Amino acid sequence: MFRSLIKKIESTNLIVISKFFIVLGLFSLIFNALNAETLKVYSERQPFLIEPLIKAYEKANDIEVEWIFSKKGLVQKVIIEKDRPIGDIFLSSDIARLIQISNAGASIEIPKSNLIPDHLQSKDWVALTQRARIIYVAKHKNIKSINYEDFVKDEFKGKVCMRSGFHPYNISLFASLMENNNEAWLKDFLIKLKSNLARKPQGNDRDQVKAIAAGVCDVAYANHYYYFKMLDNEDQKKWLEKAEPIFPNQSKKGSHINISGITLINEKTKKQSLHFLNFLISEDAQRIYASDNYEFPANPAVKPVENVAALLGDSKFETNSLIKIAANREAVVSILNEINFDE
Ligand SMILES: [Fe+2]
Repeated sequence: MFRSLIKKIESTNLIVISKFFIVLGLFSLIFNALNAETLKVYSERQPFLIEPLIKAYEKANDIEVEWIFSKKGLVQKVIIEKDRPIGDIFLSSDIARLIQISNAGASIEIPKSNLIPDHLQSKDWVALTQRARIIYVAKHKNIKSINYEDFVKDEFKGKVCMRSGFHPYNISLFASLMENNNEAWLKDFLIKLKSNLARKPQGNDRDQVKAIAAGVCDVAYANHYYYFKMLDNEDQKKWLEKAEPIFPNQSKKGSHINISGITLINEKTKKQSLHFLNFLISEDAQRIYASDNYEFPANPAVKPVENVAALLGDSKFETNSLIKIAANREAVVSILNEINFDE
C-alpha cells in the first residue's frame, strides 16, 4: 500500500515535472520567437530581383525582414502610427512621400552617409535610386536636343501632351524649374505651357508616348525607365517606332532627377534599421535594387545595368537639393490651382 502510494506520488511528480518542462519549453519557444529580430519594411515597391539578396541578409544577420508591400496608403499608415510605430522602415518610390513623412514628424533622424551624394539625402531620408524625368519627342521632328522650357515655344503650339500637372512627377519637375528661375517665372511658364497643350492633361506617362505615336502631339515629359517598360511590352514597343527619348537641358543644369528612397520610422529599432539601410546603399544591393525598375543607383560608385547605362550615355543630371525642390512644391501646387492647369 505504502509502496504503491510512493509509486503514485512518484508518477504524479513525474507527470508534474514533465508538464513543467513542457510548459517551460513552450515559454522559451514563445520567448525566442518574440526575441527573434524582425524588421518590418513598409514598401511601395515589391522586392522582385532583390529578394535573394534580402534572404542572404536575413541569414547573415539572423534577422527576419518582413516586406509589407502596397502601392497606396502606406504614407498615411506611417503617419497614423507615428506615436506607436508598427513598421520600422519605409521605402518610397518618390521623393514626395519621403517629404510627407518627414514633415509629419514620423521620420527618425539618420546620420549622413558618405556613399550617397549630399543632394540625394537629408537628416530624415536617403535616396536609393535615381530616375530622370526626360522628354519623349516625335521622331519625324528630328530633334537632337531639347530643354524642358522649350515646350512653351510657338513651334510646339498645340503639340504638347501631359499627364496631370498635379502628379508628383510633374510637381517635382516644376519645383525644380522654379528653383532654377523663380516663382513669377514659373507662373508665366505654366500659363504658356497650358496654352500649348494638345489636349487636357490626362493618363499616365506612357499614355503621352502613345499620343506622340498616334500623332496627337510632338513632345511630352515622362520618366526615363518607361522606355524599357514599353520595350518590354509587345503593344507599347510599337510606340517607340514613332517616339524617342531625349535627356533634356544638357546645355543647362542637366536633366531633372527624382528618387526612390528610404526613411526610418521606429526609434526602438533604429540600430537594426540603420544596418539594413546601409545594406541597401551598399554596392551589392544598389545595382540590383536599381535595376528592378530600370533606374540607376544613388550610390555613384555603382554603375547602372548595361541597357540603362547605354540609354543614359554621358547625360548630365541636375544636382539641385531635393530639400529645396520639396520646399517649392506648395508654391507650385498653388500656381497650378490658380490657373486651373488641368482644366
Ligand atoms: Fe513611375
